[in-house]
Amino acid sequence: MPKIAPAKWTRKHLLGIEELSAEEIKTLLDAADELFPFCTGRQAAPRVLEARTVLNLFCEDSTSTRTSFTLAAERLGARVLQFHAATSSLNKRESLADTVRNIDAMGVDAIVIRHQERGAPQRVAESVTCSVLNAGDDAHEHPTQALLDLLALRRRLGRLEGLTLALVGDVRHSRVARSTLFAHAKLGNRVIIVGPEIFIKDLGVNVETTTDFDSVLPECDAVMMLRVQFERHESLAFDMDAYIRGYQLTPARLGRARPGALVLHPGPVNRGIEMTDEVADGPQSVILFQATCGVAVRMAALGLCIGALDRERARDGPTAGKGKRR
Ligand code: CP
Repeated sequence: MPKIAPAKWTRKHLLGIEELSAEEIKTLLDAADELFPFCTGRQAAPRVLEARTVLNLFCEDSTSTRTSFTLAAERLGARVLQFHAATSSLNKRESLADTVRNIDAMGVDAIVIRHQERGAPQRVAESVTCSVLNAGDDAHEHPTQALLDLLALRRRLGRLEGLTLALVGDVRHSRVARSTLFAHAKLGNRVIIVGPEIFIKDLGVNVETTTDFDSVLPECDAVMMLRVQFERHESLAFDMDAYIRGYQLTPARLGRARPGALVLHPGPVNRGIEMTDEVADGPQSVILFQATCGVAVRMAALGLCIGALDRERARDGPTAGKGKRR
């Protein structure tokens, strides 16, 4: 059985990268590395979550994150329940707090939540006794996405220090961008935010920005392209042709980056907008490898957080935690 360093991990929740130390990030990545051989399911994983139940509570659309958490939990032996917001009692005006307290009282070990409101995972964590993992809240944080991107970078580049990364596109609406910025700041890497003014102006974070993609490419070890989040734009004046001219990653543009520079995208990809097919499917793209790394990272995150929950329950009893069972 892989040692997933449980003693070095004390958090029963994973709510954001902002709250983690560099040491905790590395502990989680090391655990993910240990679990990597098992993440595709071709080799049976240690069933460290046997008899555990994980609830996927997604109130926003998802393909990759929901599937990845499901596979991660199941490969470690857990039972996974899928909560479907569209057919739930949230539609009968049950509050999110009452919903999760009811489910917690039925006996689940972890709730994986994606929600349209910033801070919803934190509020859920304050209401329940089980572990809570943030699968994306508004434009706030998407911690497991940032961690899986780090794992992909570390496994492909062989290091996670001294890197320069361009983070390109719709940064304003991106929870991935925020979590990525927090992570690389803690690890001491340089992140350059790239995009048109409408996406990079007044972000409220102290970071290097430029509107000139071509000028920064020669300094980049990796380029992370972000999805243009049309569904969050409302009245934003977005000029598609100008965006493609200035920011689409093409083979010619990628040729300006450092030799062997990696191309990442958290998905889902708008092909023909953020990048061309040649780049998305080309030799420098690690987009599919990111998906593979995602299962390993989520196995580690569930294993570590539920491990910390177990230690809390052993110490304080089964109803330990801030939440109250009724
Ligand atoms: N990367 C990501 O969060 O994708 P999904 O929206 O498909 O989960």
